[in-house]
Amino acid sequence: MADRRIMLSEKEMIQSWYNVAADLPKPLAPPLNPGTGEPLTPDALKPIFPMSLIMQEVSTERWIDIPDPIKEVLLSWRPTPLVRAFNLEKALGTPARIYYKNESLSPPGSHKPNTAVAQAYYNKQEGIKRITTETGAGQWGSALAFACNKFDIECMVYMVRVSFEQKPMRKSLMHVWNAEVLPSPTDQTNCGRAFRERFPNTTGSLGMAISEAVEDAATHDDTNYSLGSVLNHVLLHQTVIGLEAKKQFELAGDYPDILIGCAGGGSNFSGFTFPFVPDKLKGKEIRIIATEPEACPTLTKGPFRYDFGDTGKMTPLLKMYTLGHIFVPPGIHAGGLRYHGMAPMVSHLKDLGIIEAMALHQIECFEAGILFAQTEGTIPAPETNHAIRAVVIEALKCKETGEEKCIAFNFSGHGHLDLSAYDKYYEKDLEDYEYPEEKIREALKEVPEIG
Ligand SMILES: Cc1ncc(COP(=O)(O)O)c(C=O)c1O
Repeated sequence: MADRRIMLSEKEMIQSWYNVAADLPKPLAPPLNPGTGEPLTPDALKPIFPMSLIMQEVSTERWIDIPDPIKEVLLSWRPTPLVRAFNLEKALGTPARIYYKNESLSPPGSHKPNTAVAQAYYNKQEGIKRITTETGAGQWGSALAFACNKFDIECMVYMVRVSFEQKPMRKSLMHVWNAEVLPSPTDQTNCGRAFRERFPNTTGSLGMAISEAVEDAATHDDTNYSLGSVLNHVLLHQTVIGLEAKKQFELAGDYPDILIGCAGGGSNFSGFTFPFVPDKLKGKEIRIIATEPEACPTLTKGPFRYDFGDTGKMTPLLKMYTLGHIFVPPGIHAGGLRYHGMAPMVSHLKDLGIIEAMALHQIECFEAGILFAQTEGTIPAPETNHAIRAVVIEALKCKETGEEKCIAFNFSGHGHLDLSAYDKYYEKDLEDYEYPEEKIREALKEVPEIG
């Protein structure tokens, strides 16, 4: 029988990140300066990002070396195992082979520290004393708190209000790693006060929290901003996941027919799947599927246009699938998937037909997550449940057709601090939100008329 866990030794740690920009059949549309409508110059990002990350953002080099101090921190949980989900396969009665890359083993419990550590390191190198950020469910905020603590940098987290209330334990995690956390929108920033006036009693959104964190960084000299997803350099840092997985598939003597990842801003999906894109471009038949909530169906229902990355229109204009920067998604428990936009790189690959997307309701995703917990053991994060549901759908198709496909997904995080959401599932207190068509139509009216 094949091994259940396919492991790499510390010596096999990935040495360079993979940059998919080097292999694109058509270049990515550039970010635009909202004032002039012209492509953004790297200098324009200097007030909030270190130059080393800005250069990664615009790089088209295929491989970028990972500095030793970053590898040293990553080694405390990497390489992560690739696991064959035999028990899940058996429960589904599918001839498919199902594998998952277990990113829940990091100290904060998700893939997020793969980039948090890199971002904290580069900021430290450039003398930054304090970093601000947004967080949805708190996975990113706790990852950045962990990384800043490692490099002795202050960390300020604006946490989406609904998650701040739904997930108090992630706040505690951030406190232990020395970060300050506030529910967004706050009354501490100009844009936060404006959001509270325009959207009274709002649940908050990632778009609003990003505006607050950017404003804070732009108005303090010793402070930079850090984003947990969406941008090219964030996706780049996450490619350690897929690069390890490729080596592990080689060890297992297998290769995926279908790759699946949930997509909020697109970072874990990209990190897991982008290293396989060159194989697909060379003719390998691989389906690459990004999954998202029906309540926030950016890739499946949004138009592909230039829009702001945040509600307060402080970021450059990014060409991406978007539901409109003022769209506030319903308060589903997968807080990390409540983002109006999508990484420009993921959007571009979807537009080119290299990847596809699937939208799912939250209750079917919780059902799949519970099946996973009862077969494989670990309780998944609500975001991760969106990947698992798609795996179940594809594995059941194989059961019908008899096809022995190899299906692999990224297990982006555990749900040990999301248990209140599971309680709500058992109390039948979870809601499936229909596609909020009218709200999205309204929000799209405020998207600028470009491209
Ligand atoms: C466990 C987990 N998975 C997935 C996501 C979605 O983010 P991304 O699309 O950047 O991977 C998040 C975001 O918070 C998360 O916490």
